[in-house]
Amino acid sequence: MLTSEQNELLTRVGPGTPMGELLRRYWQPIAGVSEFDDRATKQVRLMGEDLVLYKDLSGGFGLVDRHCPHRRSDLSYGFVENCGLRCNYHGWLFGADGSCLEQPYEDTVSTGTSHRDKVKVKAYPVRTLGGLLWAYLGPLPAPELPEWEAFGWTNGFVQIVLSEIPCNWLQGQENSIDPVHFEWMHANWSVRLRGNRGPYAPKHLKLDFQEFDHGYTYRRIREDTDDQHALWTVGRVCLWPNGLFTGDHFEYRVPIDDTNMLSVGWFYNRVPREQEPYVQASIPTWRGPIVNEETGEWITTHVMNQDFIAWLGQGAIADRTQEHLGRSDRGVGMIRRQFMRDMERIAEGEDPKAIIRDPAAARSIVLPIADRRPVDEGYSLEELRAGKSFHHTRFMFQAGQPEAVRAAQEEAMGMAITTKGYVDG
Ligand code: FES
Ligand SMILES: [Fe+2]
Repeated sequence: MLTSEQNELLTRVGPGTPMGELLRRYWQPIAGVSEFDDRATKQVRLMGEDLVLYKDLSGGFGLVDRHCPHRRSDLSYGFVENCGLRCNYHGWLFGADGSCLEQPYEDTVSTGTSHRDKVKVKAYPVRTLGGLLWAYLGPLPAPELPEWEAFGWTNGFVQIVLSEIPCNWLQGQENSIDPVHFEWMHANWSVRLRGNRGPYAPKHLKLDFQEFDHGYTYRRIREDTDDQHALWTVGRVCLWPNGLFTGDHFEYRVPIDDTNMLSVGWFYNRVPREQEPYVQASIPTWRGPIVNEETGEWITTHVMNQDFIAWLGQGAIADRTQEHLGRSDRGVGMIRRQFMRDMERIAEGEDPKAIIRDPAAARSIVLPIADRRPVDEGYSLEELRAGKSFHHTRFMFQAGQPEAVRAAQEEAMGMAITTKGYVDG
């Protein structure tokens, strides 16, 4: 249980708030590179700031204030040039660093000192990695963008899924260190959603949480596993500060503002050995719906959709003054205390946890993976047809995989893929 002041401190992300300042110290994934195959600008709201993400004609990306500094017109309706973004109202042109490169009328009539040099638009650095666009909104110099080993994996089909979830980001991140929810929210609830009663899934018997350089691991022993099992010896990763890594996919909980988050999923499927070598031409990005259009209710069929329901159920900002934490929540307590310590470190002018300043240390970072076989060796077609890994033959994480993405995944895998959810057995 927290005081309401502590809850405010942990959840508010606007400019100048302690948690907002903390999260601005890290590169955040904000979009898919492939979203810009057929568009030049995208409206983005990030930690309470309204921005425009764009790709200019030379292929460079920029992230600038939504409002033009001239007379506040909306730059997302601007048009890109070889270098930068031009406002569609009076034609002022801005570079990715925010400098004003042209002011057509002023440039024509002015003599002497340039009016341009006095004007800048707010601008943030953008990088590409793993098919994602990453933004850094903190003080310069920016730290290194961590290049997780997974972003360099080859011979795989990768897809990115974006969903806007109307609740605070921390509810998502506390789910990143919550092993017991899997037993109930995914296993037992899914059986009941299928209409079966049946026996309950194997119970959790023992939990452990450990800090490491890039976050925390959570480890578990269930009734059907023992202390030799990789879920105990290795575990899964709560990635610092707002991610989850399970071995073949990442999930990021990126604050849009205090009461909305962008869920960014990055999913890797190694192709069957017979399909190697495989090179993916483009990583698709799609929008995952969270509402069932027919019923108007939340979608319950897929793993992450189920998680979203838990987070949404906690309210726009969970009232942590009303909760009753148990021993299963020890990891939740650990990350809350770490955030508090990090806020103090920032106030003292230090870097918070998991900031990387050494470029060499940011290359190909290996994270704990409970089962490396599916990503290191993969499977044969025969093994997959025999049901060796259902992760490979269906996309069960989020509902709504577009037909074109399913077809591309089938072509990569050389076999049929179903979009059926976790609930479908
Ligand atoms: S408002 Fe953008 S150029 Fe005038
Ligand atoms: Fe979950």
